[in-house]
Amino acid sequence: MERTAGAGEDGVHRASRVRQRKGIRMRVVAFNGSPRTDGNTAVLIRKVFEELESAGIETEFVQLGGRALHGCVACYRCFANKDGRCAVDKDELNDHVTKMVAADGIVLGSPTYFADITPETKALIDRAGLVSKANGDLLRRKVGAAVVAVRRAGSIHAFDSINHFFLIGQMIVPGSIYWNMSLAREKGEALNDEEGMETMKVLGQNMAWLLERIRGRGPK
Ligand SMILES: Cc1cc2nc3c(=O)[nH]c(=O)nc-3n(C[C@H](O)[C@H](O)[C@H](O)COP(=O)(O)O)c2cc1C
Repeated sequence: MERTAGAGEDGVHRASRVRQRKGIRMRVVAFNGSPRTDGNTAVLIRKVFEELESAGIETEFVQLGGRALHGCVACYRCFANKDGRCAVDKDELNDHVTKMVAADGIVLGSPTYFADITPETKALIDRAGLVSKANGDLLRRKVGAAVVAVRRAGSIHAFDSINHFFLIGQMIVPGSIYWNMSLAREKGEALNDEEGMETMKVLGQNMAWLLERIRGRGPK
């Protein structure tokens, strides 16, 4: 991957700054990488959302898993075009990029599949990640949080895969009381994992805290 210098902060955060000036609330967009729309990953995202919303932050839930999203074809036209878009405009990827760029924070959730993330989550990471790089790190200094559902093993690898995306893009990553995962197999079982749910709750609180501070609101 070609390295690019960080873009000027004004350019990167123009959308959120304009919203703030107009008194519009901060916004977090979450992508559910599970094909189970109401599965455990969705439960985890919604728990993080509860805390964000109670802090006055707007949320948007985007269903990613189970929908057609091609992987990166390595055409590198995003580097030639530098228009903030993927040149392969045949699926929902550019809508996702637009939502990410407009947001102040991004939650990426995936179930653990063979000790890693789902193909849809990986496709989003590869294509949005390359578009971001091609345009001077479009997601720079946004807050990013990974959440992972797992039956038994492999969640740390999945968690790392998502955090690689955030961290190479100059994003800021808050922590919680444990790594952001929950043990569950059948739909909804995540709700029974007390520690997992508490981890999501604290993650939401820390994400809200961080957003307030790095976006220049609230006490330093
Ligand atoms: C194709 C596939 C692969 C999976 N691989 C793993 C795995 O490597 N480790 C694990 O603990 N659970 C694995 N699981 C179980 C899911 O991670 C688990 O059921 C999770 O709660 C599903 O989250 P969801 O309801 O959001 O889809 C796998 C499930 C599927 C369908």
